[in-house]
Amino acid sequence: MINKVYNADSRKLLEKLDKKITVKTTITSPPYFDMKDYGNDNQIGFGQNYQDYLNDLQKIFHDIYKITEDDGSLWIVIDTFKRENQVVTLPFDLSNKLKETGWLLQDIIIWKKDKTVPWSKNGFVQRKFEYILFFTKSKDFIYNKDRVRNFDTDQLKKWWVKYPERYNPKGKALDEIWEFSIPVQGSWGDQYVRHFCPLPKEMVSQMIELSTNNDDIVLDPFAGSGSVLFQSAVMHRNYVGFELNNDFIEMFSDYFRKTFNKARKEYDLLQNLTGQNEFESRILDLRVLKYAKLLIRDIDKVFSTYFKIFALKIGKGDGKHKILKVNYTLVGEFDNEDEIIVKINEIILKPPFSKFGIEPKFNFVKNKMASKDKHYGYLKSNSYSYQKSLDLESPLIRIISDICLDLNENDYL
Ligand SMILES: C[S@@+](CC[C@H](N)C(=O)[O-])C[C@H]1O[C@@H](n2cnc3c(N)ncnc32)[C@H](O)[C@@H]1O
Repeated sequence: MINKVYNADSRKLLEKLDKKITVKTTITSPPYFDMKDYGNDNQIGFGQNYQDYLNDLQKIFHDIYKITEDDGSLWIVIDTFKRENQVVTLPFDLSNKLKETGWLLQDIIIWKKDKTVPWSKNGFVQRKFEYILFFTKSKDFIYNKDRVRNFDTDQLKKWWVKYPERYNPKGKALDEIWEFSIPVQGSWGDQYVRHFCPLPKEMVSQMIELSTNNDDIVLDPFAGSGSVLFQSAVMHRNYVGFELNNDFIEMFSDYFRKTFNKARKEYDLLQNLTGQNEFESRILDLRVLKYAKLLIRDIDKVFSTYFKIFALKIGKGDGKHKILKVNYTLVGEFDNEDEIIVKINEIILKPPFSKFGIEPKFNFVKNKMASKDKHYGYLKSNSYSYQKSLDLESPLIRIISDICLDLNENDYL
């Protein structure tokens, strides 16, 4: 029953599937009312009146609700348009209809397309975006937000170098505007896009990543060129599609046969090269050293004893908010350790220290050997690029660590 496209009316979806499968997510873009003729007598939208069209969509999505897993979801790409001098608010009319069937509208996302039809009319400016409606079956749903974070340092603002505590180690969270250009002829294969605007595969991939795991079933009741189905298969998910127009199904099968193996190989290869782990360890290293830098700043304000800090990571933190355990050894001729530790315990409970996700351990020693092969030295004013021309014994070196960072914020945006 799975991994196929039914050449059938999606109003008959339950009959065809016989309630034998459960779907994790549905990703689809139904016909936008009567905007396009898809060349079939049973098509939804074209040739119908608006109310019948909305009622049909409501029935289809209600049927889908019944076969969706409790932690499952529904993505609908849809847009407004104009009839008889008025905007038809299709995304909102449809979401009200879906509310009646039990779907919970979790989010409205803007899909910003860079290319679009070049014309505008009086009272209707040029269109540059469409809506993505995100519904869930219940309040507990799959949402793998860490998998779609942006950790490409070429796209982040340069502040991540100096303010690592403000950046999630997994990357920057998605925002409500998704920029994906409409696929051009050729990007889904020459034949494949002849009649369509298929959804961009990167955008479909983001939805699949967010709302499913491997082997889950993804449904598209208006499959068209099959972009959702293809991307699901590439990403090790199962798929089910419905499409009235058999030409499109044949085009999809042909495209699948010719390109699937290559696409799957590329996808698998990229999985191991994402760079998210590297970004995470970079942010954590920056935090470990900046924490030491702020400690020195605050202790220097109150006490006159000169000291260096040895900062060494010792493992993962315990609680939800503590990500990392770090040993901070204060090296100096102290005669007031008790006072200093009281001060430290007071400041680390408050921001900025409390924002670092660091579970610190402190100790005091008179001397500690540093080795120039293993250790790197940092200034009181800069904890993100180590000092190459200074000895570790230099009084200007205040932080010593086995962490090697050599970053320059001006290398970034
Ligand atoms: C906007 S297109 C979908 C495009 C698709 N998302 C893609 O990436 O190519 C809508 C599709 O729904 C199909 N369709 C219309 N009415 C249908 C129905 N009652 N059952 C199944 N498919 C239908 C049309 O033939 C058309 O291919």
